[in-house]
Amino acid sequence: MSTILLTGGAGYIASHTAVVLQQAGFRVIALDNLVNSSEESLRRVAQITGQAVEFIKADIRDADALREVFNRFAIDAVVHFAGLKAVGESTQLPLKYYDYNVAGTVTLCQVMAECNVKQIVFSSSATVYGAAAEVPIHERAPRSATNPYGQSKLMIELILEDLVAADPSWRVAVLRYFNPVGAHESGLIGEDPNGIPNNLMPFISQVAVGKREQLQVFGSDYPTQDGTGVRDYIHVMDLANGHLQALRYLQKHHGIEAFNLGTGQGYSVLDMVKAFSETNDIAVPYQIVDRRPGDVAVCYADATKARQLLDWQTQYSLVDMVRDAWRWQRQNPEGYRQID
Ligand code: NAD
Ligand code: UFG
Repeated sequence: MSTILLTGGAGYIASHTAVVLQQAGFRVIALDNLVNSSEESLRRVAQITGQAVEFIKADIRDADALREVFNRFAIDAVVHFAGLKAVGESTQLPLKYYDYNVAGTVTLCQVMAECNVKQIVFSSSATVYGAAAEVPIHERAPRSATNPYGQSKLMIELILEDLVAADPSWRVAVLRYFNPVGAHESGLIGEDPNGIPNNLMPFISQVAVGKREQLQVFGSDYPTQDGTGVRDYIHVMDLANGHLQALRYLQKHHGIEAFNLGTGQGYSVLDMVKAFSETNDIAVPYQIVDRRPGDVAVCYADATKARQLLDWQTQYSLVDMVRDAWRWQRQNPEGYRQID
């Protein structure tokens, strides 16, 4: 049985990936400093799968703590989710973002090399495409970033490329997520943002549950069918499956490959509001306001490469995404906090 270390293992995408990996027969070790998550997510994972997740509270910037983990467990591969992800905060606190994301990844890779563990799946983002000139976006599209968060993801991609160039025995899969939404079908695990959500879907859910008065729709004058921004929303369980497939791919391939993980289908902000309120039969009041600085009009993936090389395709529909997001929110109006 392979043993997989999930950095940032208590987080949103990692907890769903832990379910998929355990159900596929992997042993999962979760490492997290809990800066943006709660250990309760992992207790819920165990509730879903019937298997405990080994948890280590540690920071990826702490080389000694990482060494201890690699010495204690015979880790075969790392899925590296740990990092900070708030775009707005990254413009205020750039050094913090470079420290957690970039320096943290360098430390992790140093310890991995030392311990001769050279398989890593990295959580990158469609943000590395900046304002893409063409959609759907192909992996070969030029990369650029417009904020420190995006820069940190781009820098890590470049660092991993240099690492593989210097030592081709590394096996690296860079997964560029589009817009992860939804939750596990059980409603036991889901996205639990701190404070006011930055992202559309958790904001809609919090309006629906009565925690926020109304959604602000950022701009209605984009060159899209209804004037609101278009994104490639992907169910988090589909995304989680992408990690399983990437690990299977790395068992057979050396070197580095980047993969878009999206559905290839774009939906507007108003499409999302409509799907959420119609599917769940609940009102989502909204107001159109100015554009949010830094937002692009349209972003969706060409996911052909992942389909072909990873033998992966999405299975969840828009209705599944909004239904599962709502089930999680309804069952856990305060996220994981009511338990801790
Ligand atoms: P999340 O905040 O739920 O998960 C990240 C986890 O990393 C958290 O549990 C946090 O406590 C932990 N962490 C942060 N810094 C750490 C450190 N120094 N040491 C140990 N643990 C640390 O976010 P998520 O949505 O699950 O995202 C996971 C990854 O995917 C991140 O790298 C993020 O940048 C990337 N990503 C997310 C999205 C998205 O929209 N959710 C899109 C593209 C890429
Ligand atoms: N939006 C609103 N109101 C809100 C929040 C969002 O109208 O309260 C709109 C945005 O303007 C955009 C769409 O909803 O058109 C999606 O916005 P999100 O913030 O949910 O997602 P983004 O596409 O802006 O950004 C996300 C992640 C970034 C990542 C990027 C690309 O938050 O970290 O996808 O992967 F870099």
